[in-house]
Order: sequence, then structure tokens, then C-alpha cells
Amino acid sequence: MPTAPMRSGRASALDLPRTPTGVSQVVHALRARTPRRGPCLPAEPPWRGEFVAREARPPRLTLGAFGYAPHELGHWRGHTDDTALVGPWQILTEDGLEHLAEVCWALERAARTSRFIATRRLRGADLVSPFLNNMIRDRAFLLTCSRLVGVPLIPHPLRIPTAQINYSDGRGRPEIVRWHRDGMDYVFTIQLSGYEDYEGGRFTYFRGRTDEFPGAEPGDPRIHEAPCGERGATLFLHGSRIFHAVTPVTDGRRATLVISLFCPYFARQDSNTFWHLAGDDGIPATVPSWLRLKWPVRNPAVDFSLRAGCPVITWDDIR
Ligand SMILES: [Fe+2]
Repeated sequence: MPTAPMRSGRASALDLPRTPTGVSQVVHALRARTPRRGPCLPAEPPWRGEFVAREARPPRLTLGAFGYAPHELGHWRGHTDDTALVGPWQILTEDGLEHLAEVCWALERAARTSRFIATRRLRGADLVSPFLNNMIRDRAFLLTCSRLVGVPLIPHPLRIPTAQINYSDGRGRPEIVRWHRDGMDYVFTIQLSGYEDYEGGRFTYFRGRTDEFPGAEPGDPRIHEAPCGERGATLFLHGSRIFHAVTPVTDGRRATLVISLFCPYFARQDSNTFWHLAGDDGIPATVPSWLRLKWPVRNPAVDFSLRAGCPVITWDDIR
């Protein structure tokens, strides 16, 4: 898919390029470098379960509101996977957010650049940070996420894409997140900076089906900016079914933590493709992740929790 150039001046969000697909995606996979497992990091504050904020009732949109029909949704024994977007809301307390931001900014020097989706990012952040590792495997954190989306959620067994930190600043070439839909289905983005810290950097999404996105034009009323200007604002997106992008930061610094969770009961409907993953992480790193996702299971909730190294979350837990 060809990518459009960025226009200067008051550009439309639709001027942002799209992430490569098809043959170009395979070329990215062949060129992609395996994420590093280092570096040695400075001492981190410890994660504490009380950093999870009391449960809130943020705004929620269904996949039906994006144009998806009931037969296109995931169903499992009377449960329907129909949440498209939730938030923004504060998932952490002020203390928790302060510590999370400290941890994520300290990891910035380990970030790498990419021309695939996000310009500068750290993949597998939970593999180098005990704080992040414990946070996304905390039962209270997972229950909060699961209840808001309406399905049991655990960290994704693919591991490398589970916790990604995106960084951008106003220096040098524009740092963006290209128009894309995620390989992941259940994606939570936590803002580690607010509008007072940077210019630009607007989280933008297309309120329509993914197959309608190619027909969108500048000024299309289905292009929305998510109100994520507050530090700590958290947004859930059914990432594989919603095209989204982030406009360039033109001044200041912006960082977001993107957490991809997984519903063990809908494992067969997982939207990841091998080449989408390999485009970011390279082929050697993608193979073991792929086996953790695709190897058969006997009990989805238990077996996938073992693979993800986290507590078991069942339908009964989120009633
Ligand atoms: Fe995304």
C-alpha cells in the first residue's frame, strides 16, 4: 500500500501515512531487528496493587456503533465480545501514575526507531521492567480491564507486543503513529504526558468499519480525536477493528504505554497475523511467540494464563 506524504500547514489527520501491508509488510519483516533484552536499568520503584484506581464507569461504544453486524462479533456460551471503545478514564491512582511515568521515561533510552507503525518505541517493555511486569499481571489490574471490556483478559501470550511504550518529541523528523489497525484485539493506551507537555500528538481514530476506511476523505465526520489530553488518561480500543493513528508531536515530549491483553476464550479468533508481528519484531523473535499463541490448549483460561505467567481470570470473576 503506498504511503501518502505529510503536508505542511493545517494538514488533515488523514494525511498521515498508513502502515505497510502485503509484500511491503514482508520486506519490513525481513529487515526488522529482534528486540533487545537489555539494558541494565536504574532501580525502579516497586509495583503495588493499590496503584489500581477504584473501578469507574467511563463512556463505552459498541462495535455495532462502528457498523459491525452481530454475526461478525465473537460469541462464547452466551457472552458477546461487543466492546469497541472505552474511556478515557484514570486506571491508576495519582501515586501509581507518577511511578509508572518515572519507570517508562527511564526506559526511553532503550527505545528503537521503526518505519512500520510507531516511529520510536520500546517493544516488550515488561520483559525489562519488573514494575511493568507486575503491573500487567496484577489480578486487580486485570479484573478492572476485564470488567470494563466485558470479557476475561490476561496479558497476551505473544509477549513481545504485550507492553509497548511509544515516544515522540518535537525535535528532528516527525514522530508519529501511522494509520493502522492492530494485530491485537484488546488494547489499552495510558497517556504518560498531557496536552500541557506537548503540541500535536493527537490520538485519532476512524469511527467505522475497517473495510470502509480506505474510502475516508479529509473532513470525513467519522474521523474523531479521542479526548486523551489528561496525564493518565486511559483508552481501550478493540484495536484490530478500528483504524487509528497519532499525529506528529511538534513541540515538547509525549509518551504512552500501550498494553495488549488477550481473551483466552476467543483465542481462535485472535486477529494477529504472523507477518504483521514479524514486520515489527523480525522473523526469529516471532516464531516462539507464535507457538505460544497457536499451540493447542485443553483449558483455555488455565493454559493461556500459564503461558502468560499471570493469574487465571474466568467469566465468573467478571460478573
Ligand atoms: Fe495501535
